[in-house]
Amino acid sequence: MKKSTMILCAAVVMLCVGCQQKAKTTEQTECETVKSTTMEDLLTRRSVRSYTDSIPPMEVIEEICKAGTYAPTGKNRQSPIIIAVTNKEMRDRLSKLNAAVLGADNDPFYGAPVVLVVLADKNVHTYIEDGSLVMGNLMNAAHAKGLGSCWIHRAREVFESEEGKQILNDLGIEGDYVGIGNCILGYTAGDYPEAKPRKENWVYWVK
Ligand SMILES: Cc1cc2nc3c(=O)[nH]c(=O)nc-3n(C[C@H](O)[C@H](O)[C@H](O)COP(=O)(O)O)c2cc1C
Repeated sequence: MKKSTMILCAAVVMLCVGCQQKAKTTEQTECETVKSTTMEDLLTRRSVRSYTDSIPPMEVIEEICKAGTYAPTGKNRQSPIIIAVTNKEMRDRLSKLNAAVLGADNDPFYGAPVVLVVLADKNVHTYIEDGSLVMGNLMNAAHAKGLGSCWIHRAREVFESEEGKQILNDLGIEGDYVGIGNCILGYTAGDYPEAKPRKENWVYWVK
């Protein structure tokens, strides 16, 4: 082989290796960007307690629900279910039932137009953990999508009540479902809340 041909071949090989490395670097950078966005969302999500009346687009609510369905569950039993409520009549009915548990008549959903109720099948021994992780995914996904959210408790009591059981029955939901939490959703009204300081000694290191 001529010397000039050899030099040309070597140059082509070096160029190809260079391209591959560049592609890898770009991939890594994209991956790091995705990771840092996730971290940012986890650190900046806060419980929102003031909402506008506007209902977010259905596709966004569906995506948030989808994130809930991808939460880890014990032995992948997928014990929870989500009742996605955008209907005002049902939203108000759930709000009243929730307030009644506290003997109050305010709106415990803080005016949020959407409620994602998480219930879980109590026959699965990890049902509380499973349902709680779904709640976590819903709140973090809502934040990632630019929506406010908050865990509102007392879903257990609401769906233990006769009216709560009737709602499940009317929706055709059969089984031993226990209410885990209500994830309220909507557009934040006013300032986004700031995180309270973290307590001391959250983490005990063993290095
Ligand atoms: C199990 C559980 C139940 C909660 N129940 C309520 C509730 O009924 N009403 C409410 O306003 N916030 C409720 N929250 C929200 C907490 O008050 C909130 O997460 C906490 O103050 C920390 O604030 P942050 O979410 O902004 O970090 C609940 C949170 C959890 C995890």
